[in-house]
Amino acid sequence: MKKDPFTTAIRQGLGCKSKFIPSMWFYDANGCKIFEEILDLPEYYIPQAEHEIITNSAEYIASELPDEYNIIELGAGNGNKAINLIQNLNIHSPGCEICYYPVDISSWSNQQLRNKFEISLPGIPVKKVNLSFLQGLKGFVDCKKPRLVMFLGSSIGNMTITESIKFLKEVRATLSKGDLFFITFDLVKSPEIILPAYNDSQGVTARFNLNLLTRINKRFQGNFILDNFRHTPVYNSELARAESYLKSTKAQKVYLKKLKLTIKFRAGELIHTEISQKYDTNSICHVCTSAGFGLVDSFFDNKIYCNGRLLRA
Ligand code: AVJ
Repeated sequence: MKKDPFTTAIRQGLGCKSKFIPSMWFYDANGCKIFEEILDLPEYYIPQAEHEIITNSAEYIASELPDEYNIIELGAGNGNKAINLIQNLNIHSPGCEICYYPVDISSWSNQQLRNKFEISLPGIPVKKVNLSFLQGLKGFVDCKKPRLVMFLGSSIGNMTITESIKFLKEVRATLSKGDLFFITFDLVKSPEIILPAYNDSQGVTARFNLNLLTRINKRFQGNFILDNFRHTPVYNSELARAESYLKSTKAQKVYLKKLKLTIKFRAGELIHTEISQKYDTNSICHVCTSAGFGLVDSFFDNKIYCNGRLLRA
């Protein structure tokens, strides 16, 4: 029998010495709701920077697109980024026939997105794809229409550089020659700006991280006590990335009844839950060219916090 992927992730990640849970498991309905709160935090600078990048790049992107095309967005979330882009594309080249395919593993987010599109862009057909990124993209391999694939929100940051190259190669393999790929990267900047983005004063990011334990408790009849764990973000300047952990505040045992699994924690022991990789121009070029993409153009926000790259397959 095939094990479900969350069970596998938890057995592997909590049953070993260096505890680790992949960040994709943050996004149950409750995690998505808390993530929406993160997007509105004053310390979380990425949404504002990307809003500017999208606004600044739309005219150029419009000029590179044909009259009829599909937009496929990986990790579409609440749809705000796509709405911003499509509204701007419509201004610069009105009358194009666009179909929008949001790919997201969260059905909660997909429903939110649909509601927002109905209000803001009622003329655009939205066809949701409730699959993983690569599974979703594979559905378009035989499609004749040109594609604009988007991977925004600096979502690539959840992967290491090595994982990013592997992932972007796989993305490119699903595209046809000439298709466009629009991706954003969060740039290296002072830790005094980066760290608060993952350690906000209202404790929203802490709730987001700790929600993983709530999700595990619910799913596996676990007895994690949330008060015994602390959200612990650090900035690793050597690897240019923010890292988030859940730190056990004391020696303790947790039992997951459905898995018949006992997990022991030492005082101060960490569960690694997320990386948020930051990029400089060199690492961006390295990742994009290693994956075989050609650069069309590069865009920035006013503060140069993030970088958007329009690439061609
Ligand atoms: C969606 C991966 C870009 O790493 O900045 C935000 C997720 N985690 N706050 C990021 C996140 C905690 C976010 N990405």
